[in-house]
This record gives sequence, C-alpha cells and structure tokens, in this order.
Amino acid sequence: MIYTINYMDSKSFVSIADCSKDDILQLIRTAGQFEQHPNQKLLEGKVCATLFFEPSTRTRLSFETAINRLGGRVIGFSDAATTSSSKGETLKDTIKMVSNYADVIIMRHHLEGAARYASEITDIPIVNAGDGANQHPSQTLLDIYSIYKTQGTLENLTITMVGDLKYGRTVHSLLTGMSHFNPTFCFVAPEELRLPDIYKQFMDKNGIRYSEHTEFSQDVINQSDILYMTRVQRERFTDLIEYEKVKNVYVLNNQMLENSKDNLRILHPLPRVNEIAQDVDDNPKAYYFEQAKNGVFARQAIISTVLNYGT
Ligand code: CP
Repeated sequence: MIYTINYMDSKSFVSIADCSKDDILQLIRTAGQFEQHPNQKLLEGKVCATLFFEPSTRTRLSFETAINRLGGRVIGFSDAATTSSSKGETLKDTIKMVSNYADVIIMRHHLEGAARYASEITDIPIVNAGDGANQHPSQTLLDIYSIYKTQGTLENLTITMVGDLKYGRTVHSLLTGMSHFNPTFCFVAPEELRLPDIYKQFMDKNGIRYSEHTEFSQDVINQSDILYMTRVQRERFTDLIEYEKVKNVYVLNNQMLENSKDNLRILHPLPRVNEIAQDVDDNPKAYYFEQAKNGVFARQAIISTVLNYGT
C-alpha cells in the first residue's frame, strides 16, 4: 500500500503551531494507517539523519524504528560529545554539512529555536525532536493520537497537566495542538513551575478555558478525561537547591484514581522518575507505555509527510 500524502504548508516540522487542525487530523489518520500496516518501503534509497545534541531514549529510537520500517537508512549521533561540535563547530556548519549527506534531519537541541534556525539554513526538511523548553511537536502528535485512540474523539475533553509546566516542552506543545479541539485545561504546578504567561495569553486570545492549581486534588483528578503527568526536569534548573524543593511535589498513586472517570487515561511523555507510583502501572487507566509505542506510527506519519511521498 502506498499512501499519497500532500498536506502541511511547511516542508519542515518545527512547531505544532505551524499545523492547522486539518493537518493534525490528517497526520493522526496517517498514523492510524501506519499502525495497521507498519512495514512499507516508502523511504527506499533515502537517508535520514538523527542529530541528538541532548539525551533521548524514546524519541530517537522510535524515529529510527519508523525510518527502518519504511525502508530508509539512518545516520547520525546520540552524543554530541563524539562530534565536531565538541571542537567548536557551529550548529549552522553542522546542519549545512549533514544536509550534504541526508534527505531529512531529525534534531534535538538544548537551545530554544534551534530547529527553526536549522530550517532556515537548509533546503532539506527539519523535524524538531525537542528544542530546550520550547516545543516537542512529534511528541504532541503521538500524544494527540493516543488521546484520540483512548477517547474516540479529540473534542471537548478536560485535560489536566501536572508537574513541570514551566520548562515542560511537551506541555507547551500539547496545549497548542489541542487548542483546536475546544479543550478545558487544568494546570497543576508549584508556584516555581507555573505555566509561562505566553501560553496563558495564547489561551485567553483563543477563548480556551483553563484553571491553575497548586494542589493536586481529588476534585481535579475526578473531573479529568486525560491526566498528563510530567517529570520535574533536573537538567533545566540552574540552581539545584530549587530543584530539590520541587522534585517530589506531586506523586500519583493508585488510591488517588479510585473515583476517577471510567474513560480517564493517564499519559506521560516519559521518562518517569517518581511522579507516578509503580502501583499505577497495572491500572487499566495507565496508558503511558502504549503511548510510547504510538510514537512509532506518529513518527512514520511525520517523516513520510515531510518527505512528501506519493506526490
Ligand atoms: N518523551 C521523550 O521525549 O522521551 P526521550 O527523552 O526518551 O526521547
């Protein structure tokens, strides 16, 4: 089966804000098709570069699995210390060099805006696999695909996001992506890790309902359709004393789910540290491991779209 994929104005996939509602719906439909038929030789003869300047398990391995299942070849690195950037080579020069070798670049970088910058200095598509605390759009696509699979709809859902809402790029991307679907958001974070004002301004401008809480209360859990837990990210703190103050602030356990809605599903972009107790893993409402599996199909949809297969 060969899909004809021709949507999204941009050839790169840098921010979920660049995608219309139709783009997102088309991408999750395509992900669903790849879930049905994951092995297709759409990328035969293509070389895909994965440049990970920051650590990753899921994102890199699921992108590479996606490419392998589509018959493409992968080059790249998972540790920038082994590359010439450790000798002082600029990101610009690295991107220009790799553009000579590959048909698409998938990159994770600690600097916010790095993927956008890369997309402006090369003619090949750039896929953002996370840029600092800014965006993680491929995670958002798999999150939205997971929400759709578990809820049967994307519309009118109550989505509670818990943890590090200040530095959490998955949170920033997901609220942007879900803004097309009339959500109600509950944001649970300590004062130090509250959602940045820029995202609240975005929601105010777009008439999106939201509330902010410092307490992770039963009321908040019991009204949720999706509980999106996040890790407090040690690597984003310049002052580790500040990290120690907030690192264990919210821990979800099984007992807290007793009166939750039947359709509630618990998502987490992972890695988890201790914000979800191990006893939740066997609860049928825990969905984070299946969510990570959905990453392969979502990333097959992204790669095949930016390379514009069938057109
Ligand atoms: N969710 C996510 O980005 O995981 P990794 O950091 O392991 O890629």
